[in-house]
Amino acid sequence: MSQLLEKAREFEQKELNKINMEERPLFHFSNPVGWMNDPNGFSDYHKEHHLFFQYYPYETRWNSMHWGHAKSKDFIKWEYLPVALAPDQEYDSYGVFSGSAIEDKGKQVLVYTGVNEILKDGKAYARQNQCVAIGDGINYQKIACNPVVRSDMLPEGSSREDFRDPKIWKEEDKYYMVVGSRGNDGSGQVALFSADQLDSWKFVGIIDKSANELGKMWECPDFYQLEEKYVLMVSPQEMEAKEREFHSGNNSVFLVGTYCKCNYKFNREKIQNIDYGLDFYAPQTMQTEDGRRILIGWMQSWDNPIYQDIHGWSGMMTIPRELTIKEGHICQWPVRELEKYRTGKVSYENVVVGKEFSLADINGRSIDMEIQLTGDTYQKYKIKLAAGDSRYSEIIYNRKEKVLTFDRTYSGLKRDVTSMRSMYVEEENGMLSLRVLVDKYSVEIFVNNGEQVMTSLIYTPLSENSISFSSDGEACMNITKYNIEV
Ligand code: FRU
Repeated sequence: MSQLLEKAREFEQKELNKINMEERPLFHFSNPVGWMNDPNGFSDYHKEHHLFFQYYPYETRWNSMHWGHAKSKDFIKWEYLPVALAPDQEYDSYGVFSGSAIEDKGKQVLVYTGVNEILKDGKAYARQNQCVAIGDGINYQKIACNPVVRSDMLPEGSSREDFRDPKIWKEEDKYYMVVGSRGNDGSGQVALFSADQLDSWKFVGIIDKSANELGKMWECPDFYQLEEKYVLMVSPQEMEAKEREFHSGNNSVFLVGTYCKCNYKFNREKIQNIDYGLDFYAPQTMQTEDGRRILIGWMQSWDNPIYQDIHGWSGMMTIPRELTIKEGHICQWPVRELEKYRTGKVSYENVVVGKEFSLADINGRSIDMEIQLTGDTYQKYKIKLAAGDSRYSEIIYNRKEKVLTFDRTYSGLKRDVTSMRSMYVEEENGMLSLRVLVDKYSVEIFVNNGEQVMTSLIYTPLSENSISFSSDGEACMNITKYNIEV
């Protein structure tokens, strides 16, 4: 084991004991210590779900990237494992960037981007190449011929500095990976590679590109079949806001279409925003043994990071979400395993919502709540969550404008960051349905059975846990709330 890896493992172990567990999310994954961003290597190995992540154990700020590691039997309870990778080779000395994993011939294979810097005319330039490490679920050996996929294998004019985040899969004894890249027009593209052996890859083609329409660099690609469609998932940087569909900066999108394996052509039919909230980026998926496609994302983003310095850790992942397709549209729903942890059911039916009020036992900071809203004599309906004397976060449904807003302006923020985001929603047969997961510092809103999702962080002391409802007319609400106990 390299000294860098040993040091990271020891540090993590030592610091972990100092963390106040009460402050951690209960049913969402948070990193042991330090900083976390993207999910990596989300996959099954020896019948358990593994999650790696971009990790800097020493501080709650992004810095020289390692891979942290955890595993779970049910996506809800996670067991921390020792740091998996450190930037300990010449070719990855600047950082072990994002990537993915598969189980292969009894081993766990990790592929990641090795970043190093070269000096040219006194200036430092990053070089990003794809590397392989093979292990037993705890310890990994970087293979001798790394990097195995180099930026000089890309077509003429492609960037050497932006070439990262390989997602690997295996099909009929052949390995494939998609990698994010920047083409000769400066905007994002996804390159496909294939290999018979893990150390001998060849470039197959560019399967889709931004053409300067969907942001610049495309980060963290993923490519998979979902029912009758194929989905290329990317996280574009530097996007321009478009009505209520996309916000400025980093977004994550599903590109839905068809794929012909005979000529490796992906035919994009549709673009869909993955999450309309304030804090969501770099999602990755895996397939479970029972065939479900599960997505997990980083519950934060680069333009808006508010560092949770106080806790000694600063990252959270979304609830893992099952993906399905309904009439060409991808729906996301919390993994069914979460339902095992529901307790203390409280239900109310046909509640008339007018002036602000609370309901007995509807409160909490680790809850799963389902609401069905009907009625046509109101324009605005509001839920205040994580509320105390002066702090609260609001979900606001403007029925007339068909807009759902999440607003955390008064959640306890002390920095001038974006606090509000809105999306268009449609009632179905006169009803809007919401499922709201609150887990200490996060709020995930699933609208109309997961047709749309909105994920945001809040920064409210845990003692503030009231919930209230109001409308400017008479909205009618059915509500069921569970506590989550893990
Ligand atoms: C996405 C990303 C990846 C990169 C990683 C570095 O959030 O920028 O493209 O591999 O983070 O930590």
